[in-house]
Amino acid sequence: MRIDVITVLPELLESPLSHSIMKRAQSKGLLQVHTHNLRQWAVNEYGQVDDYQYGGGAGMVMMCEPLANAIEHLQKERKYDEIIYLTPDGNTLNQKTANQLSLLENILLICGHYKGIDERIREHYITREISIGDYVLSGGELAAAVLVDAIGRLLPGVLNDETSALTDSFQDNLLSPPVYTRPADFKGWKVPDILLSGDLKKIDEWRHEQALQRTEQRRPDLLDREL
Ligand code: ADE
Repeated sequence: MRIDVITVLPELLESPLSHSIMKRAQSKGLLQVHTHNLRQWAVNEYGQVDDYQYGGGAGMVMMCEPLANAIEHLQKERKYDEIIYLTPDGNTLNQKTANQLSLLENILLICGHYKGIDERIREHYITREISIGDYVLSGGELAAAVLVDAIGRLLPGVLNDETSALTDSFQDNLLSPPVYTRPADFKGWKVPDILLSGDLKKIDEWRHEQALQRTEQRRPDLLDREL
């Protein structure tokens, strides 16, 4: 999969995507992430990509021309399955969306700043709008990094144990059960006996029961959700 990102702050994306699992995904050639600095398409020599909003009001708006030129330039190289704008008023990201997006070949992400991007870009180029939660970030870059991570780890071959993404929280609309590691007794706090029993069938049942209980207590809304 290839993900292109248009941003005014490519540096913000570099670190989160150059370690651990995202690093492995890219070095194995399973994921390619290319950032493009929007200022390459600035309207003047000062690197301007934003302007005052029509109708007045505080805050700048990212202009049509640089964004349209950047998107059209990249579209000449390849066809994008989705052009996604990261924005707090988009659809909230969840595991189902991450699963769907992980099946695509080419995705283009647009990171907004200031008051956001000119509405005409949203109308004419953007195919999907995604929020990572009901709070406002200073820009779309950290949201883009979250999205790339959520998608990238699902690509076949990225995780060592291919089943491990399947047992993540949310994959069955269930939160994960509790997990434990050595020692079996820490300050008198014991690991549940069942996990030491070696009975894999019973352990699976226990884990499923714990996942259900945890979901009922913490996120009952998930249990009514379509898979
Ligand atoms: N840009 C600013 N806040 C955001 C959010 N919550 N999700 C996605 N993009 C954003």
